[in-house]
Amino acid sequence: MQQTAVLELINLRKTLKGKEIVKGINLTLFPSQIFGFLGPNGAGKTTTIRMIVGLIKPTEGSVSICGYSVAHDFVKALSNVGCIIESPDMYKYLTGMENLLQFAAMDKKISQQRIKDVVEMVGLQHRLNDKVSTYSLGMRQRLGIAQAIMSQPKLLILDEPTNGLDPAGMTEFRNLIRKLAYEDGMAVFVSSHLLLEIQQMCDVVSIIKQGSVIKTANVQEIIHDNRIEWQLNNPEKAIALLREHWNIEAVQLKKNTISGCLGQHPLAKINELFIREDIALTYCSTKQNTLEDLFLDLTEGDEIV
Ligand SMILES: Nc1ncnc2c1ncn2[C@@H]1O[C@H](COP(=O)(O)OP(=O)(O)OP(=O)(O)O)[C@@H](O)[C@H]1O
Ligand SMILES: [Mg+2]
Repeated sequence: MQQTAVLELINLRKTLKGKEIVKGINLTLFPSQIFGFLGPNGAGKTTTIRMIVGLIKPTEGSVSICGYSVAHDFVKALSNVGCIIESPDMYKYLTGMENLLQFAAMDKKISQQRIKDVVEMVGLQHRLNDKVSTYSLGMRQRLGIAQAIMSQPKLLILDEPTNGLDPAGMTEFRNLIRKLAYEDGMAVFVSSHLLLEIQQMCDVVSIIKQGSVIKTANVQEIIHDNRIEWQLNNPEKAIALLREHWNIEAVQLKKNTISGCLGQHPLAKINELFIREDIALTYCSTKQNTLEDLFLDLTEGDEIV
């Protein structure tokens, strides 16, 4: 049986003031998936999210949420979404509880018990009756998350969610997201430029650069992708050989050092070829790959445009 996608983006594009900001994004997200949308500042993450939740209209392409088109069935589509974009919108002169009640009043399905539960999930029970104006950034973030998950949405969208959280807060947040996805079946879409955060939290990641997704991968596969560093005397030739024989895209790290992901290719065969091709190999080491390596490989030299 085929699972219904929680979120589907088809060829999503946005042009603003004559400039193409989002250039044809395709994406499918299923229940219980934690998806990371990773990209440098200005890559188009927030613009994509604004289109998903219907704050702006796509120039081309479509967004569906739980099978409902955002363009044609806005209310039904959005009834499945909880989101925080950039920073949570709160009434500062009200208390945390008053803010949540205000929000709950818009949705009859939200019970008093549910409010109590979400407040405990985000760890705000002791400050709930204080005014939001007295909250720290991290506390506001937690209140925003409480508000976003209150109606038990099938899709939770968080734009740079850990901004302002301390390390303990980040760990708690990660555990909360995992619980929502793996126990309650929520699909979670998290945008961030924090690599480690995405690596530790997400199952699948798409890297976006200048409005295009340049790579989508399973996070575990990236981490176990077997990255090697070689010190050798002819990096240009070595990079060309790797590309030609094994389709490996290596990068030059220093004058005589290159690095690349082997995948399933045997290192011994590669080193043999280097030597046959008169490359003097002085050192070779394995390094566990991180998302940061991949991100830097793919976005190297990227400037904010
Ligand atoms: N209303 C607008 N008019 C013109 N350009 C815009 C507008 N909104 C965003 N942009 C441009 O679109 C590009 C993408 O912006 P966006 O906010 O989507 O990036 P982002 O990936 O969320 O970045 P960050 O990590 O800094 O939040 C930027 O170059 C930005 O200047
Ligand atoms: Mg943004």
